[in-house]
Amino acid sequence: MEKFLVTGGAGFIGSALIRYLVLEAKHNVMNIDALSYAASTDCLSHLSDNDKYLFREGNICDEKFLSEVFDEFRPDIVMNLAAESHVDNSIHNPSAFIRTNINGTFTLLEVARKYWNGLMSEKKEVFRFHHISTDEVFGSLEDFGMFNEESRYDPSSPYSASKAASDHLVRAWNRTYGLPVLVTNCSNNYGPFQFHEKLIPLMISKAINEEPLPIYGNGNQIRDWLHVDDHVSALYCVAMEGRVGETYNIGANSERTNLVVVNTICELLDELNPRSSKKSYKQLINFVKDRPGHDTRYAIDASKIRDQLKWEPAISFDEGLRKTVIWYLNKLRK
Ligand SMILES: NC(=O)c1ccc[n+]([C@@H]2O[C@H](COP(=O)([O-])OP(=O)(O)OC[C@H]3O[C@@H](n4cnc5c(N)ncnc54)[C@H](O)[C@@H]3O)[C@@H](O)[C@H]2O)c1
Repeated sequence: MEKFLVTGGAGFIGSALIRYLVLEAKHNVMNIDALSYAASTDCLSHLSDNDKYLFREGNICDEKFLSEVFDEFRPDIVMNLAAESHVDNSIHNPSAFIRTNINGTFTLLEVARKYWNGLMSEKKEVFRFHHISTDEVFGSLEDFGMFNEESRYDPSSPYSASKAASDHLVRAWNRTYGLPVLVTNCSNNYGPFQFHEKLIPLMISKAINEEPLPIYGNGNQIRDWLHVDDHVSALYCVAMEGRVGETYNIGANSERTNLVVVNTICELLDELNPRSSKKSYKQLINFVKDRPGHDTRYAIDASKIRDQLKWEPAISFDEGLRKTVIWYLNKLRK
């Protein structure tokens, strides 16, 4: 039974992944996380007494800390999710993104390489370094076409540029040193425990608080949405079955404009949590100045992972969004 070292496991996607690995797939997991502002202490609290789960607070830029963790835990599979992940923050404070997303990934690769070089042949054969990345590395699409694994890298923001750089480092560590790596590039995720700076939780929490719902530009930017649990099932599939050195794009063909997403959230809230004024939440929508370098459209062609690894998403956007709105309503009412 493989042992998983997950970085950034106190974040939105990392915590969903760990809940799956420990509770469903019954693996031993060590989570390392610097507990930045985006980390949640609630998302894994029910695992604190589980003997399959270990947590070490620390930074992926800290080589000494990482070396101790590898020596202590002796992982079979490393899944790197630790990152600065919010585009707006990257515009105002790019240095944190360069530090964690580029230097942190480099440090983790180097510690993993030394550890992997010292493994006995059987364990060396099993070892994988799985780097979790985004479709934003490919830049922006026009009205037609989709990103596939051959799409040219063309990042627009400091966030996507730092993720692009980290993807290149990971592939270079495979080609130069033979480190057995896997890379996945996924579309926009949504679901429970997402930090409220991101579009869907931001709109839900602002609406409940009767605050304006800020939409960049005309709201016609298109994102391709995937429920976090579907991302987790894809990550597990790639980590266990993916071919070393390969990249897999992950998505569920759920393209929506930001305006449609916000309108749908408003309609769900109108039904599930009507305002005392009886007016629709849509009246709170407020168009604001567009984000600089805002990508127009993302769309993922996930046929490689579907065809080669037989992965399929299980949650439709309508069903997933309804569940997500209900989850945040219950959380905000507590
Ligand atoms: N959220 C999405 O829609 C999406 C889509 C595709 C890919 N991704 C990628 O998935 C990964 C996880 O995204 P997320 O949305 O869960 O992010 P998140 O911001 O919710 O979580 C990131 C976690 O990393 C931790 N962290 C940050 N810097 C660290 C450091 N230097 N050392 C150790 N831990 C550190 C934070 O404390 C946090 O718990 C990221 O690499 C992101 O680029 C996200």
